[in-house]
Amino acid sequence: MPKTPSPPVGKCAEVLMKHAKPTTRRTFLATSGTAVSATLLGPLLLNADRAFGATLVVRRNVAHMDASDPTLASYRTAITAMTALPATNPLSWPYQAAIHGTSTTPAQTAWNTCEHGSIYFWSWHRMYLYWFERIVRKMCKDPCWALPYWDWAPGSDLYLPAPFRDPASPLFTTRNAAMNNGTGSLNPLAVDIGPAFSLTNFYSASSSIEGPHGSVHGQVGGSMCCVPTAALDPIFYLHHANVDRQWNLWLAQGGGRSDPVFDATWTGKTHTFFNESGAAVTMNACQILRAAQQLQYVYEGEPSQVLQYCRRRPPWPWWEFTKELIVKLPIPPIELKAVPVSFPIDLQLIREKLAPLLESKTDTLLLELDDVEAATQPGAVWAVFVGPPAAAEANAKSPYFVGQVALFGSGIRDEAHHEYKPAHFTYPITRALQASLQANADKVNVTFVPLGIVIDGKPTRPEVKSPVRVGKASLSIERAREAK
Ligand code: C2O
Repeated sequence: MPKTPSPPVGKCAEVLMKHAKPTTRRTFLATSGTAVSATLLGPLLLNADRAFGATLVVRRNVAHMDASDPTLASYRTAITAMTALPATNPLSWPYQAAIHGTSTTPAQTAWNTCEHGSIYFWSWHRMYLYWFERIVRKMCKDPCWALPYWDWAPGSDLYLPAPFRDPASPLFTTRNAAMNNGTGSLNPLAVDIGPAFSLTNFYSASSSIEGPHGSVHGQVGGSMCCVPTAALDPIFYLHHANVDRQWNLWLAQGGGRSDPVFDATWTGKTHTFFNESGAAVTMNACQILRAAQQLQYVYEGEPSQVLQYCRRRPPWPWWEFTKELIVKLPIPPIELKAVPVSFPIDLQLIREKLAPLLESKTDTLLLELDDVEAATQPGAVWAVFVGPPAAAEANAKSPYFVGQVALFGSGIRDEAHHEYKPAHFTYPITRALQASLQANADKVNVTFVPLGIVIDGKPTRPEVKSPVRVGKASLSIERAREAK
């Protein structure tokens, strides 16, 4: 990837660098030649691939902030000001949240437009945050304000950030009590992004990342539980900044990963938001592929952003993906509740197809679940294992762990939204099957293990408010071939 040695550093970046907690000490030369004492942000800015405008901002990790951090102080100011505006004003807190989802009627322009269970999941939420951030910037009168992110993946911060747990703060709201009092944390298995990151096809990865993303919604609970209220919680935007950052990180893994820049359905779809003057604006995916260049933000600590352009082949091997259904699995009616349940896959059905597949570096065996639904938000998530999920092995390092079932935004019948559709989940299972085949099994079980939050270091059993029905299961092969 081309790197420009010293891009001009915008004034916002300098302001932010002053407030970031020094984690490493380096000397960083701005274009002016002035030495600035730097933090991790220095090398990060040097990593930027082009000369940006003067307003490049850095979205920082909230774990490096305490309640007095100017970014959080400004966020509190904006929340208070936005909450005071009438709900009919597009800059108001309730209007912004309603763009994501609401049950208030009649719906105003752009309400209930969030994308879940669709190919626009990553792109819609990137646009939404971008315009939201501009509005916050205006409302707190801090022209350099940048949305922080909550890095909730295992190994990072599974606790709700402390400044959001202070009942006296505008950052506080109703949530799962244990999350709000600091005794509870997210279940690491529920939020593991390993399976999503292993997938190379954009659509499969985006679909898979909706699982751990949905777990965060469910386990934070309260307003975050459900689409019609989620964006009323100030943590929502930090959660999604992390999902947005994961898009960059997924791409940065390389290995042929790319945005679908030739798919006119994906690039051509426009979505409506509001700018900081309250005027409606539209945007499409071609305008948001390169966050730093086009939207002027980078994430603290992220590697160099991958440059993608609409209708232009990237300068690395370009894969075309095809999916072949190999078998519809005959499954009994499956209901996910508070105890683990399983169904078997008869390996005789697929043994012949499996052998070449397990050797392949470019083909992935997928387990897909369709017609996944619940009457209301289930209030629980499940880890999915293919192969023996002996309780002792119920962790993300197990080769049998393939992902989660976490409903959010699709598959929930009582959540009024643009249109009801059952949920769909995709799991990469090549590695899990390899492990089972080595054991010479002639069938493997697919097992769903309910996961609650972790309290005082111990995983809890979730209370299941509405069981989840799994209607269909199938196995497919996703093949990647280098395009001519
Ligand atoms: Cu559209 Cu996590 O929500």
